[in-house]
Amino acid sequence: MIHVILMGPQGSGKGTQSERVREQLYLAPVATGELFRSAIKSGTALGQEIKAIYDRGELVPDDLTIALVADRLDEIAREGREGGQVVGALYDGFPRTAAQAAALDDLLARRGEKIDAVVAIDVPREELIQRLSGRRLCSVCGKVYNVVSDPPARLNECDACGGTLIQRADDTPEAVSKRLDLYERETAPLVGRYAERGVLVHVNGDRPIAEVTDAIVAAIRERVMADSAPRR
Ligand code: AP5
Repeated sequence: MIHVILMGPQGSGKGTQSERVREQLYLAPVATGELFRSAIKSGTALGQEIKAIYDRGELVPDDLTIALVADRLDEIAREGREGGQVVGALYDGFPRTAAQAAALDDLLARRGEKIDAVVAIDVPREELIQRLSGRRLCSVCGKVYNVVSDPPARLNECDACGGTLIQRADDTPEAVSKRLDLYERETAPLVGRYAERGVLVHVNGDRPIAEVTDAIVAAIRERVMADSAPRR
């Protein structure tokens, strides 16, 4: 299996691009924010514990996050064995700390696999804040929209399933600013680490959604092919 990480600050378009890139490259999603949102929706004790952290815009503890990712990777491997079309995993929102990055390396090493490509989506901070304040998502299927740059065909109604669109609990100005600061402190340093390993590609995320998708798909294809090319 190949493993590709989409990395970038909140609002850079990881969720938006993950959905589009996955379809083209047959990758299965490993989206921790999405996994946490479904745990919260399920209303379990764990979900309630996560909700308080999530709503404040803070990071969920590493041990909990890593365990969730390990389960998700087992699920993807099982789907692959059962004849699914999936050729790898696309990570969105993970890893976000040095401990998570180390845990992912270990998880993959135990499977005889490794990270093949890391795509850093670059967008200026003012644009990120604007995007997050206009973000809406479907309360039923989770599809992401933007009131300015990517509106639904009918006001407040999901194009895919007809569900009502809502604003995320952590898209308040206070939580957004906390999340962006956390990214700079905890996650941005990982970009340098992956660059040193030679797996990092930068993509300009400050342009129309479809253009960003094309650039990401091309970058992943190039990186993965470069990796499988015979060495002289
Ligand atoms: P998560 O769901 O991962 O959220 P995030 O990292 O805060 O990232 P966002 O979803 O805000 O941004 P995005 O880059 O996906 O942007 P999007 O595509 O939506 O995490 C939520 C929470 O869960 C965390 O705060 C934390 O509590 C917890 N968590 C998750 N992972 C964790 C981990 N590993 N460890 C610990 N805790 C964790 O786009 C944003 C908007 O912009 C949308 O409206 C979209 O339509 C629009 N847009 C996208 N692309 C463009 C474009 N090119 N031009 C114009 N508009 C665009």
